[in-house]
Amino acid sequence: MASVQWSCLILALLSGLVIPGFPGSPSRQLEKRSLSEGEVDGIEVYSTKISCKVTSRFAHNVVTTRAVNRANAAKEVSFDVELPKTAFITNFTLTIDCDTYSGNVKEKEVAKKQYEKAVSQGKTAGLVKASGRKLEKFTVSVNIAAGSKVTFELTYEELLKRHKGKYEMYLKVQPKQLVQHFEIEADIFEPQGISTLDAKASFITNDVLGSALTKSYSGKKGHVSFKPNLDQQRTCPTCTDSLINGDFTITYDVNRESPANVQIVNGYFVHFFAPQGLPVVPKNIVFVIDISGSMQGRKMEQTKDALLKILEDVQEDDYLNFILFSGDVTTWKDHLVQATPENIQEARTFVRNIHDQGMTNINDGLLRGISMLNKAREEDIVPERSTSIVIMLTDGDANVGESRTPKIQENVRNAIGGKFPLYNLGFGHNLNYNFLESMALENNGFARRIYEDSDANLQLQGFYEEVANPLLTGVEVEYPENAILDLTQNTYKHFYDGSEIVVAGRLVDQDMNSFTADVKGHGAINDLTFTEEVDMKDMEKALQERDYIFGNYIERLWAYLTIEQLLERRKNAQGDEKENLTAQALDLSLKYHFVTPLTSMVVTKPEDNENQTAIVDKSGEGPVDSVIPSMAYLDSYQTPPTPYYYVDGDPHFIIQVAEKDDAICFNIDEEPGTVLRLVQDPITGFTVNGQIIGDKSGSPNSETRKTYFGKLGIANTQMDFRIEVTPEKITLWNGAAQSTFSWLDTVQVTQDG
Ligand SMILES: *[C@@H]1O[C@H](CO)[C@@H](O)[C@H](O)[C@H]1NC(C)=O
Ligand SMILES: *[C@@H]1O[C@H](CO)[C@@H](O)[C@H](O)[C@H]1NC(C)=O
Ligand SMILES: *[C@@H]1O[C@H](CO)[C@@H](O)[C@H](O)[C@H]1NC(C)=O
Repeated sequence: MASVQWSCLILALLSGLVIPGFPGSPSRQLEKRSLSEGEVDGIEVYSTKISCKVTSRFAHNVVTTRAVNRANAAKEVSFDVELPKTAFITNFTLTIDCDTYSGNVKEKEVAKKQYEKAVSQGKTAGLVKASGRKLEKFTVSVNIAAGSKVTFELTYEELLKRHKGKYEMYLKVQPKQLVQHFEIEADIFEPQGISTLDAKASFITNDVLGSALTKSYSGKKGHVSFKPNLDQQRTCPTCTDSLINGDFTITYDVNRESPANVQIVNGYFVHFFAPQGLPVVPKNIVFVIDISGSMQGRKMEQTKDALLKILEDVQEDDYLNFILFSGDVTTWKDHLVQATPENIQEARTFVRNIHDQGMTNINDGLLRGISMLNKAREEDIVPERSTSIVIMLTDGDANVGESRTPKIQENVRNAIGGKFPLYNLGFGHNLNYNFLESMALENNGFARRIYEDSDANLQLQGFYEEVANPLLTGVEVEYPENAILDLTQNTYKHFYDGSEIVVAGRLVDQDMNSFTADVKGHGAINDLTFTEEVDMKDMEKALQERDYIFGNYIERLWAYLTIEQLLERRKNAQGDEKENLTAQALDLSLKYHFVTPLTSMVVTKPEDNENQTAIVDKSGEGPVDSVIPSMAYLDSYQTPPTPYYYVDGDPHFIIQVAEKDDAICFNIDEEPGTVLRLVQDPITGFTVNGQIIGDKSGSPNSETRKTYFGKLGIANTQMDFRIEVTPEKITLWNGAAQSTFSWLDTVQVTQDG
């Protein structure tokens, strides 16, 4: 085998490639030494701290990990953090001994060019990828010299949204080794006063948690600290494995004596609105359910199970109907019926007898449901003070009837005419989620993914609970004319019990003495207007302690919300409008240092020079230097509709590490003609070789030339047997006998032994 130059590049790129662990242990664990506790393969992670500061629902989190390489050779350390998909990374710094590399947010295209250059030079990169339902993963790996120390610091921010009566902050922790100083610390400041606060860890029993966890709240301040010592981290008294692996969740809510709360700081205001104790507005619900063949089996059982549970929660003054679509559309009733006990009983029987069949006609299913709701309104079948919603569940793409998605969207938009919201639930991954989301958003609803898992029925029910209790419809938030600028969304179809409406903006006149906000909406019994008068002096007093947390949070909250809403509107915009929305969101992302889908973060050493970026030469020519990344690339990753693996040029190797969930990825950058031995099994006698070829352009410049495998050979000396595969043909040698096959043939060859 030719000597191989390993341009060693540790990339956590695609699923299956990620080095898990937070902070990660070295990805290669060839020998497990136990020189000292909390040291794995020479790397000791001696400190991990997650510090969360929440002010008025706006969370600012800093994750800091410190490690030292106690081995007598350079080692790799990786730093993995899973953060909520709704969060924006705002900073990342990496310090190796005394050198600090810090992050700069750049427009994606600009960052990408720098990133590609760094990757082509074999430097370390880190990025964010989707990970699970709520989280995405940020990964950076770095090689550090013997005796060196490294500090990683990641900062991210998010606006905590109220669901089912509480705000939830979700932290995934997975240190993978005992850590001398492990700490999670959260400080919460809420001007309305905190009414409940709880913290739970999914991985630890209450009695252990008891002494490591403290939580308290009083007035406006809440505090949570989780600080397990080494013994509390052990899986057993004599173990050196860490039991800290899972979710750490902090939940809280604030006092609701007043339906609204307005806060103003430095000319920016935020207005929180969540009235309590209103009666629920009766609902007219049409469930449009996909029963096509692909729903067969567990998905169908879970859907039926969820619908039966939902039927238990339907109120007697609600109206409902079921529309089932496959290739055809069938309905339970010809029109909406009231949820009387008799009708609910009948509905249960109907649901139990649903069977899957045929194709997927989304268009006709939705249009039937929508026209039924329109008709119910026109013919006064449903009460005047009621609200309509369509909930559609599908697990696939439209493939019969009208299957052009833009046309379906147009039909649905015209049929609904802005009168009620459409919620789309996408079951599993085998569907066009962007289409479902876009259609829901343009009809005042939203889309949700239902993950194919044992709890899919609970996910469906959970979604229903969120929309089951509308307290107000047609909500409009109004401010004095000409007093405000840059307002975020201020009209909402519904206010649901347990949620919260948040509007933010900027004041034209910073020195005004008072501020008035009106919220109007239609309730179950009457129309309501909530007026909130803010006296600036009183509010200043109420916010006095805010510096205890962090300064310009309202401005950042406003920027976060504005960017989030611009990105959402952008999904359905076209042409100039889309460009305008993109430009606005990009400007704000750059100004406020947010890593969003339009920006990336480039991490460089301020006075970066070429000598800072060494490359490990695995073949042992010269001493092994530490590889210092000249940059990492932090990116917000969009889930592709289907898993997608693609690399171009320079053979990429992915090695699964035995008994670990880990993989190593590296490139081989070799001259065309080189033969690499890929596999050698001395027991069976099999070897697999690959020969490298250049690309067709034949560029002589080795910097830009891409190389590929052009020939694979599989041989077994014991059996005197050899196969050679090229893009043109397949050649088989059995002893001296040679057979050649083209790729067009289907051949089965059997040989004794
Ligand atoms: C990023 O973090 C570093 C280290 O804490 C800090 O010095 C720097 O000012 C931060 N950058 C921004 C833009 O906040
Ligand atoms: C977007 O459009 C608005 C009004 O149409 C305009 O005032 C604004 O300058 C535009 N923004 C950008 C970034 O092009
Ligand atoms: C990089 O290192 C070489 C050799 O040690 C030295 O001659 C050169 O000046 C260095 N370059 C920079 C930019 O520091």
